[in-house]
Amino acid sequence: MTLELLNVEKISAAIESSNAARLAALHIFDTIDSTNSYLLEKAKSNAPAGSVCLAEQQTKGRGRLGREWYSPYAVNIYCSILWRFPHLSQDISGLSIAVAVMVANALRKYGISAEIQLKWPNDVWVANRKLAGILLERNDKTGVVIGIGLNLDVQEANEKSWIDVAELTGRPVQRNFLVGLLLNELLEKLPVYATRGISAFLAEWEKADVLRNKVVSVQTPLQIISGTMRGISEQGELLLEDETGVVRRFSYGEVSVRF
Ligand code: BTN
Repeated sequence: MTLELLNVEKISAAIESSNAARLAALHIFDTIDSTNSYLLEKAKSNAPAGSVCLAEQQTKGRGRLGREWYSPYAVNIYCSILWRFPHLSQDISGLSIAVAVMVANALRKYGISAEIQLKWPNDVWVANRKLAGILLERNDKTGVVIGIGLNLDVQEANEKSWIDVAELTGRPVQRNFLVGLLLNELLEKLPVYATRGISAFLAEWEKADVLRNKVVSVQTPLQIISGTMRGISEQGELLLEDETGVVRRFSYGEVSVRF
């Protein structure tokens, strides 16, 4: 596969001028511990909303629930953006949902024609395999770092539950164009989330919700509960109908499903 390194000009070319105005900074590293850690640190010194960090590789890329995120050199996308919300509640489940919808839109604009599935709280799947993961981390009351790991070529990892953009399109990936589309979508829609909240994203989520009406298990630090997934609430919580017919709400946890 041809190696296309990250390039500011090529990325910027894919960002519409109305959205480019919201891009406060674009830091590109060859190697970094974690793009999320970098922006969390920057946020402490009042970095503005719209600060973005990308890296060719991460030495300590992290996923949800303390997992490692596979981050080899120059093949995938490791992208973080800092955003500030004047009134962000303690629970950011709604933002997770909205960001997953934004990532799915960028992938469609890139030309992925396969059905994109969203798995609560914010995984992006295709054909029941993971294409992208999202990690939201908070630094202070208003700032959130949104980290996105997008698989472009994970053949070497030989992990059957993952899928990548190269496999889906059958051609070398235009990394810069795809990063540009992703940032374009985030820069356009994060302000929409700030004013309208999750309601602007719920309909799109529901169309792509891969867990709806499936029998699933939800694991939290305290318990594992099985039931039927009944979609998400207006706050982005997972709704699980247990065997007694009671619908319970979860704002965090790991969901397992058997297809
Ligand atoms: C998941 O577990 O599904 C979330 C994965 C998030 C990975 C991204 S890669 C860019 C950013 N930096 C990190 O260390 N993690 C996120």
